[in-house]
Amino acid sequence: MINSILRMSRLSYSIKVTNSKKVFLIGVILLCTGLDIGLYAAGDAAKGKAAYAVCTACHGANGAGNKTLNAPSIAGQESWYVERQLKNFKAGIRGANSKDTFGMQMRPMALTLSDDQAISDMSAYISSMPATKSSKNTVMGDVSAGKASYMICQTCHGAKGGGNRALNAPKLTGLQDWYIVRQIKNFKSGIRGTKSGDIYGMQMRPMAMTLSSDEAIKNVAAYIATLK
Ligand code: HEC
Ligand code: HEC
Repeated sequence: MINSILRMSRLSYSIKVTNSKKVFLIGVILLCTGLDIGLYAAGDAAKGKAAYAVCTACHGANGAGNKTLNAPSIAGQESWYVERQLKNFKAGIRGANSKDTFGMQMRPMALTLSDDQAISDMSAYISSMPATKSSKNTVMGDVSAGKASYMICQTCHGAKGGGNRALNAPKLTGLQDWYIVRQIKNFKSGIRGTKSGDIYGMQMRPMAMTLSSDEAIKNVAAYIATLK
């Protein structure tokens, strides 16, 4: 192992020394990757807004969600997370499990976004909307017990539930408590976080497993509802 790393570093060293054109090429490739990440983030929110018309039916004009229609609040969520979920829905990484009643309602909607640019535009628009959620708290739970369970969650989602891009963990504060309960159950039962290619869902799934009962899930959701 160490030997092969050494061999690789020696190899790249010899490339640098002996072939500056190759170094230049590698530089260009790295630059393009960087640019790609740049473009990725720079969705056109105005175009996203135009395409959002179809989404209002369930998520509402302000993105606050609708409990009756089982649609969560999406306004103000981080664009990189929204982008990932829309791609996951499109690719069938999310919302394709036959037990995923609500994900299956969302999946055809993601399929209306024809390409990566359309997804990027939509994500820019959604994250630009001021965070707001439609329903008051609906989950009764023991907040202090939930706080204790949340200790493990905060390593990725943050002490205030604000999310952490470096750890790929989304913001939890804008989400309705009933939606949080549903997702934790989905992760636990493998409705979410088991499809191959779902790298980030697979990181979350064992965390959901730390909540041993429905009671524990409710408690943590009730605690998250208190975070600002
Ligand atoms: C028919 C109702 C409906 C419409 C229309 C709809 N959605 Fe959804 N959406 C849902 C439901 C239900 C869920 C929750 C899925 C679940 O429980 O996993 C959801 C989930 C999402 C999520 C994931 C949120 C999260 O926190 O992970 C995003 C992002 C999203 N929708 C964006 C959109 C966009 C963008 C559009 C328009 C192109 C749209 N939705 C149209 C019903 C809808
Ligand atoms: C190791 C880091 C990590 C820890 C610890 C962690 N999560 Fe997550 N969580 C993630 C990642 C990454 C995702 C995004 C999964 C995806 O992209 O589908 C996620 C997603 C979620 C979602 C779905 C959000 C949505 O909008 O659909 C909920 C709810 C959630 N986590 C709650 C929790 C709770 C509660 C705990 C503690 C019991 C916890 N997480 C601990 C990394 C973590």
